Amino acid sequence: MVGYIDIPAVLEETSTAGETEADNPSRDSPARLTESMIQARRKRPLDRGVCAQKQWITFTLNLHSNTQRTSMILVTGGAGFIGGNFVLDWCFGSDEPVVNLDKLTYAGNLETLASIADNQKHIFVQGDIGDRSLVACLLADHRPRAVINFAAESHVDRSIHGPGDFIKTNIEGTYNLLESVRGYWSNLNDIEKHSFRFLHVSTDEVYGSLSSTDPAFTETNRYEPNSPYSASKAASDHLVRAWHHTYGLPVLTTNCSNNYGPYHFPEKLIPLMIVNALAGKSLPVYGDGMQVRDWLYVKDHCSAIRCVLRAGRLGETYNIGGWNEKPNIEIVRTVCTLLDEFRPKADGTSYAAQIIYVTDRLGHDRRYAIDARKMERELGWKPAETFTTGIRKTVQWYLDNPKWVANVQSGAYRDWMQKQYAGATP
Ligand code: NAD
Ligand code: DAU
Repeated sequence: MVGYIDIPAVLEETSTAGETEADNPSRDSPARLTESMIQARRKRPLDRGVCAQKQWITFTLNLHSNTQRTSMILVTGGAGFIGGNFVLDWCFGSDEPVVNLDKLTYAGNLETLASIADNQKHIFVQGDIGDRSLVACLLADHRPRAVINFAAESHVDRSIHGPGDFIKTNIEGTYNLLESVRGYWSNLNDIEKHSFRFLHVSTDEVYGSLSSTDPAFTETNRYEPNSPYSASKAASDHLVRAWHHTYGLPVLTTNCSNNYGPYHFPEKLIPLMIVNALAGKSLPVYGDGMQVRDWLYVKDHCSAIRCVLRAGRLGETYNIGGWNEKPNIEIVRTVCTLLDEFRPKADGTSYAAQIIYVTDRLGHDRRYAIDARKMERELGWKPAETFTTGIRKTVQWYLDNPKWVANVQSGAYRDWMQKQYAGATP
């Protein structure tokens, strides 16, 4: 199935002085567009009100005389770590187009999406989930069958230093997004309404901290968030639940454990340890290093989300985890051992010698663990990677992609839009 994107609406507003009539097809003849015309129009922002101000087309328009729309999805936060992996997997594994709305905060990186920059099925839009007019416009234009909300402020340490952005995006932003989606959904016809889904991506941190003997979190655990980040995510989960209960919005919520894998921003534990080790810097372990996290390879998270989207029961929450509980110090030592194997130091010493213990995170949760049996029982999902296989792939990925890392470290990744769209004015 190849997607039909709203070509006529786009074309109407992108005609350029000097184009011939043949180059400027009417609403009824999208198939008359030539490839050179399309190329000329690519990398140019639309000029169409609020939607256009922030929309950058990063794909080649599909040319189909078919006037029927086929389905598409809208993803938010798709330039971040998990959303980026999800969009890449989606584009390589499905014919269904994806609209990707991302504000491009420090965590958003379009270089992650470089391999699909010319993909016809990917439409990138820079914007805020809290911008109701923009979101309403995107929904009306593209008429997605589902919205998957990855957009969030996601780093616990940043939430401790400055909670404001977390309240704004994770709570107010989710509220505004829900309202935009509710407005769109309530005007769909009965069939579309019935099949529509709003999938909210959340975290295991909403359940609080476990002792070493507590059973793993199930979907019925009480919410006991402890950090500004987890409290803001908990609030967003409650809003999503309420929009289902009160308005009937067809929602699904997933609560996942710690992800790791390609394109992980190198201020989080695993990528930070890899890049610091290679740079000869110290490897800072908080407190005694015995905090336990349940690690899931990011591609497994993406496959779980696709499962929930396909077959999850409306209004339900699903816990997603890797059955990989490990103390932080063990994670760091494993990274060092792999680097010793893949990129041994010239002096023969281990990277583990760079480990140092530093002041603990404020309010640091001791242990998270996910009981993912509901995902397996109801949806037949299980992670494909063990920690042993996933962490090898991850360390290898960072060794193979020094440019992606260097551009994050230098800040150059933030110039990507400007470089890619030189000459275009927003
Ligand atoms: P990330 O920080 O890497 O990416 C977040 C993305 O959202 C970025 O591209 C950013 O630009 C975008 N964004 C931020 N504010 C926005 C706004 N107001 N409007 C539009 N876009 C905005 O985060 P991640 O690690 O990819 O996490 C994605 C989601 O998964 C988050 O909701 C997070 O809470 C959840 N989660 C993450 C993990 C994990 O281990 N990373 C685990 C469980 C759940
Ligand atoms: O549990 C899911 C959560 O996992 C997600 O909801 C968050 O969005 C995601 O950022 C992640 O949160 P954490 O705080 O667990 O991830 P982080 O990589 O920051 O830290 C992992 C553990 O490692 C945590 O116990 C703190 C510790 N740590 C972290 C850093 C950056 C260190 O010991 N040293 C460090 O330098």
